[in-house]
Amino acid sequence: MLYQTIVDFFVENIEKGSILPGEKLPSLRKISDQFDVSLSTAVEAYRKLELFGYVSAKDRSGYSARLPSQGENILRPSEKFRSKISEIDHIDEIIELINQTMDSETAPFGVGTPALEKFPTRMVNKYMVQTIKHQPHSTGAYIFGMGLEDLRQELSRWMRPWIGVTSHKDILVTNGCLEAINIALASECDAGDIVAIESPCYFGLLHAIHHHGLKALEVKTDPTEGLDPEALETLAKNNKIKALISTPNAQNPLGFTMSDERKKQILAICHKYKIRLIEDDLYGELSFEKKRPKSYKYFDKEGIVTHCSSFSKFLGPGLRIGWCIPAQNSDRYIRQKLSLNLSTSTLTQYVVSSILRNEDLLKVGQNLGNHYQQNIQIYSNVINSQLGQKACLSDPTGSYFLWVRVEGLNSLEAFQKAKRQKISFTPGPLFSATRQYQNYLRVNCAHEFNEKRNQELIRLCKILGG
Ligand SMILES: Cc1ncc(COP(=O)(O)O)c(C=O)c1O
Repeated sequence: MLYQTIVDFFVENIEKGSILPGEKLPSLRKISDQFDVSLSTAVEAYRKLELFGYVSAKDRSGYSARLPSQGENILRPSEKFRSKISEIDHIDEIIELINQTMDSETAPFGVGTPALEKFPTRMVNKYMVQTIKHQPHSTGAYIFGMGLEDLRQELSRWMRPWIGVTSHKDILVTNGCLEAINIALASECDAGDIVAIESPCYFGLLHAIHHHGLKALEVKTDPTEGLDPEALETLAKNNKIKALISTPNAQNPLGFTMSDERKKQILAICHKYKIRLIEDDLYGELSFEKKRPKSYKYFDKEGIVTHCSSFSKFLGPGLRIGWCIPAQNSDRYIRQKLSLNLSTSTLTQYVVSSILRNEDLLKVGQNLGNHYQQNIQIYSNVINSQLGQKACLSDPTGSYFLWVRVEGLNSLEAFQKAKRQKISFTPGPLFSATRQYQNYLRVNCAHEFNEKRNQELIRLCKILGG
């Protein structure tokens, strides 16, 4: 990889002190001239250096050198990772444990929802009131078929920079992203088919795969680079994979954002082996990058991607407005939607349509992203200072989760211990079809950091450290 030479050069020089922490680094254009590479390779190199903690990017003032702080251990793929076709037989356990993280009395490091106080609730409520005034009959009607035309037109305009040109006629409005994924699985797969997934992945996807009588096949996934194309290709050669579910941007729980290059590689493999790619792009707006990262859909020339997303993570999950853009024929998708619940709420479709028309939603996502990025830094520092070399942490590029490996941990046992002390987290095995990641956990860092939270996090680290 071209960028690797640049990465190696800076890591070596920063480590041996030829470049000092805080020193301003050459601009992207200078790097591109000096190493005779394209500008995008220079960007990729700095991005990698940033991920590994050797570079910090300052708005407008460019890049400067830094040394990764002591105890900062970037997570690598699990050495013990196994890939095998499996039915998911621990759904009851997953649901039971997730329910236990919902207790409002418990420190909220477990439950997957963002910070309630950070949603633009006042703005959403203003549009809700206006909609009731201007569309007084909206609660008296279904919207059959693909959903409210106005909303689909706004969505098609809004998403164009990251999904490319898509007609509103191809967008199906759903009750959130998870319904979109369920509809996609039901439309693209038959019971018994194999669905490839990132490992680890969001347990809701495991639940959906189980619900449709499908089998899961976990694919090796790098915590910073994303889904491993070589591993996917090897599995595809040896198994008839019907669909792949991938979360390319700010993945839950790892937080990686896949480069455009890697997205294209994955697409090429899916095309070669006739695999449908079901894209879960729910967290793209919460990226820490300046520009909202592109979706697989943007690069999909062959019509193999079904794009799914929603407003749950930055407008509010209670609106239940999501959508999918079927890879090809939408008839099966519409029938699935009809059989499930006829229509998404008419009222909230009008509300979100007006919000999209009048507000800058990318800004809303970006502000939240900035807040979460700072939180992740703070939570990481506390965990590092408490657990030191015992812990390895993910280095997210978006959203609000940390994925943590702790030496010698039994996360399910620690979960029960923490629960007794009114502290929650999400144990690692919940993110695997085959109950891997026994010594891992996911920490939700969305909530405001204050002295109370600090003490709770320290108590959690004490439990994890044994
Ligand atoms: C990766 C991922 N996909 C889908 C969902 C569900 O999204 P929605 O609330 O829009 O159905 C979640 C919720 O946490 C998630 O993390």
